[in-house]
Amino acid sequence: MALLCVCATLLLLLAAPSPPLYGSAAVLAGFIGGSLLLIVATAFGTYWMMSTTLRPVRAISGKLATIRPSNLSERVPLPSHDDEFRELARATNQALERAQAAIQEQLRFASDTSHDLRNPLAAMRTEIEESLMRREETDWAETADRLLDSVERLQELVSNLLEISRLDAGVVGHHDFLNLGVLVAGELDHRQSKVRVVRRFSSGVMVNGERIGLTRLLNNLMDNAERHARSTVRVTVEHRGDAAVLEVYDDGNGVPPEQREIIFERFARLQEARAKDAGGSGLGLPIARQIAEDHGGTLTVEDSPSGARFVARFPRPTALGSPDR
Ligand SMILES: Nc1ncnc2c1ncn2[C@@H]1O[C@H](COP(=O)(O)OP(=O)(O)OP(=O)(O)O)[C@@H](O)[C@H]1O
Ligand SMILES: [Mg+2]
Repeated sequence: MALLCVCATLLLLLAAPSPPLYGSAAVLAGFIGGSLLLIVATAFGTYWMMSTTLRPVRAISGKLATIRPSNLSERVPLPSHDDEFRELARATNQALERAQAAIQEQLRFASDTSHDLRNPLAAMRTEIEESLMRREETDWAETADRLLDSVERLQELVSNLLEISRLDAGVVGHHDFLNLGVLVAGELDHRQSKVRVVRRFSSGVMVNGERIGLTRLLNNLMDNAERHARSTVRVTVEHRGDAAVLEVYDDGNGVPPEQREIIFERFARLQEARAKDAGGSGLGLPIARQIAEDHGGTLTVEDSPSGARFVARFPRPTALGSPDR
């Protein structure tokens, strides 16, 4: 507005008729002076208004600049007015909360992993040290057998850790239209079970999935079922509604309802499993569930007359491939 006044004044001067419309030089000077004053006042007012309005943004960015992984528990200040800036601060704090939870999870994971790696290593070291102290009496074949147990445990743990990092990184393998019954049957044929395995497969149950991932899911469930079964493990593949369903259930002691979610947490092992096999790491079920979810499905423990019943559900593919693959 003020700029417009100055421009109009200058235009008047340039196209000044005689006698001039503005009367005298004093009137003109007053006009120009007033306009300049108006410009300065407007600029100052705008600056003051903007800096007051943006003060909460400065407070938020100032706080964010000081946040490091070591002080992720701190939060940015919430502006007093309930406006867009308060919304921004709230969203920033929620993002910080998520980052803090993820870092804490990673730290817990690293500590659990180190703990699990340390145990077999310590066992191997003790074994070797004791054997070396009594070189003459040591039965080296027996020692090698015991060392092999620890090495196998380490190998299993490392392969689980690699699988977890692959799943966490969201690496997606090649997906095919697979006949779930054929895949499961083929895998069971290769397993050497210590218990009776009863199969019931419906024909033509198709899934869109990654062969290696689904095989791993099945084997993780079978390892557990065989470990906990008294005498029999049942495996079924069938359609239920819109889902392709794989069930593995055994006739062991089952999983108490209040622990049916806990067992899917990384490194979670119940007392009974520790007594049955000290070697497990508690990663089999979390991996199996992550694989099911990466296929758009679910993996849960459901009620059963006896023992544990693990149920994996996968969405039925819309376009079906050859049922024999
Ligand atoms: N069929 C089952 N019956 C009873 N409890 C089970 C069964 N399957 C799993 N669990 C419980 O869930 C826990 C977690 O299983 P998960 O497969 O993740 O680990 P794990 O078998 O102990 O070790 P890992 O699979 O890494 O060798 C087990 O330790 C056990 O307590
Ligand atoms: Mg297991």
